[in-house]
Amino acid sequence: MFGNLKHLNKYFRRYKTKLLLGVLFILLSNLANVYIPLNVREGVDTIEQTGDYSTVVNLAAVLLAAAFLSNLFRFFIRQTIIVVSREIEYDLRHDFWSHIQQLPLRFFQNNSTGNIMSHATNDIASVRMFVGPSVMYSIDNGIKFVLTLAVMISLSPMLTLYSLLPMPLMSLVVYIVMKKMHTKYTRIQEKMSDLTAKAQENFSGIRVIKSYEREEYEISEYKKESGEYLNRKMDQVKLQAFFAPIFMMIAGLSAIIVVLAGGNMIINKELSTGVIFAFMLFLMDLIWPMISFGWVANMIQQADASMKRLLKIWSEPVDISNNNVDDLITSITGDIEFRNVSFRYAENLPWVLKGLNLSIKQGETVAFIGSTGVGKTSLINLIPRLYDTTEGSVLIDGVDVRNIPLKVLRTAIGLVPQENFLFSDTLANNIMYGLEKRSEELVHKVSGIARLSKDVNSFPLAYETILGERGITLSGGQKQRSTLARALAIDPKILILDDSFSAVDTNTEEEILRQLKEFMKNRTSIIISHRISTVKDSDKIFVIEDGKIVEKGTHEELVAKDGVYADLNTKQLLEKELSEMN
Ligand code: CTP
Ligand code: MG
Repeated sequence: MFGNLKHLNKYFRRYKTKLLLGVLFILLSNLANVYIPLNVREGVDTIEQTGDYSTVVNLAAVLLAAAFLSNLFRFFIRQTIIVVSREIEYDLRHDFWSHIQQLPLRFFQNNSTGNIMSHATNDIASVRMFVGPSVMYSIDNGIKFVLTLAVMISLSPMLTLYSLLPMPLMSLVVYIVMKKMHTKYTRIQEKMSDLTAKAQENFSGIRVIKSYEREEYEISEYKKESGEYLNRKMDQVKLQAFFAPIFMMIAGLSAIIVVLAGGNMIINKELSTGVIFAFMLFLMDLIWPMISFGWVANMIQQADASMKRLLKIWSEPVDISNNNVDDLITSITGDIEFRNVSFRYAENLPWVLKGLNLSIKQGETVAFIGSTGVGKTSLINLIPRLYDTTEGSVLIDGVDVRNIPLKVLRTAIGLVPQENFLFSDTLANNIMYGLEKRSEELVHKVSGIARLSKDVNSFPLAYETILGERGITLSGGQKQRSTLARALAIDPKILILDDSFSAVDTNTEEEILRQLKEFMKNRTSIIISHRISTVKDSDKIFVIEDGKIVEKGTHEELVAKDGVYADLNTKQLLEKELSEMN
């Protein structure tokens, strides 16, 4: 039933010593504890038989010592087992995070951020509850049961038997409730994850929500979701509410039986009065384990449901892997070749690239042009292996990219993505993001090339300006130039600009391109754009249509060809003339 949790064994093994110590403390604490009722029995019997009060005082002192020791060991239990549970939680979170970081882009496309966040927080926390409190109480309760029962039997096997008569009833209740609880927990966790996902998406899309005046709608949507969460939680709480009262009643039943049967045995002189006192105390000792048994069972159910969800992510293959790499490759020069490359995002989705062939020489500047959605971004994503080809292969320096160590491959490629993203950190840190070693000088240099310096100098804190959530928000064009600077900073062998100038004006673009010329010398550069003006100076231009290359050549060659490119050229020239006339 709890098969998912056995994956935690390796973590338990890591903290074996501390855990064993914890178990020892549990044993010691219970040993001291079981001594208390025995003591009381002796006290009662002594008074009854001898009337000697001084023995009672002595016994009270021993009782105090036993109680003190029992609780001292209880302190040590928490110091060991609960501490270990926190350490395991840390390990789990770390391992989970490492795995998530290595998952391919494809995974993030298929899973919402909120869902992943919910796993990383709620699910790990609930597994922690298993590792800590559940394990602690299970062992504690187990030992307490065995110990208490053993002592009870040694005092009076018959009375023990009587007091345990209601036990089968309890097992039945536990069995029924546990069975129902499991599905309820899974449903609760699922809803929790929906809630987190919804919140996360709302925060990211807050601009859209506000500009469309959809606050009320979002409030009611969230209310619906959290209402559903409440319902599911209530479902479980109602069931859980049965546990304590039922156990109390069963314990009460036991107490009554002890008084009735025990009383009879005393009258028949089969038992001393003290034993009844001791039995009452033992039963009281057993109430908490019985109640907590239900609670622990719940935690285990929940942890199992959570672990199952975590394992689902854990079993996601890191399909862009380093498995087949040739470790002898430590650097690349920058020849790129696409050999019969076909690509689609999933088996049920249409082909994006269809048997595409092209080659780019080291040091060349090439451009891809084509209307929106033809697959330009998809194409360049294959070079740093953000995705792998579905068929065919991409080669760099004649080697399949799948054989180049990921680190070598990716640190040699400076990609300025179409959808740029900056972290909420200082601008300098953002620009140095790809670097192992900080260098302020480099930041200034690449910002110069990206035409960012002037903008930055107008910020009060210049490069130390914090961006995003906690600081200033850059304009679209400033963002693009910052991401360009970030790509330049890693001194890439291959520079890829995916529509990186869409948010800057044509003049600035020309300036940047002029400055980049120097930088791009001896590097392979790929420029994607819709604008002829951006691509016209490239050594080679590829026109993409319907997942294939339909034309290639220099600007002049393509214009002379009078095809798609020439058409586009005429159109854009016309537009330019028109706008200049106005
Ligand atoms: N696509 C997809 N899943 C993605 C990205 C893209 O299914 N994660 C699909 C798109 O719907 C599109 C095709 O793949 O039909 C090509 O997308 P893309 O390569 O992004 O097109 P671009 O040529 O880059 O388009 P644009 O000029 O608009 O950037
Ligand atoms: Mg694109």
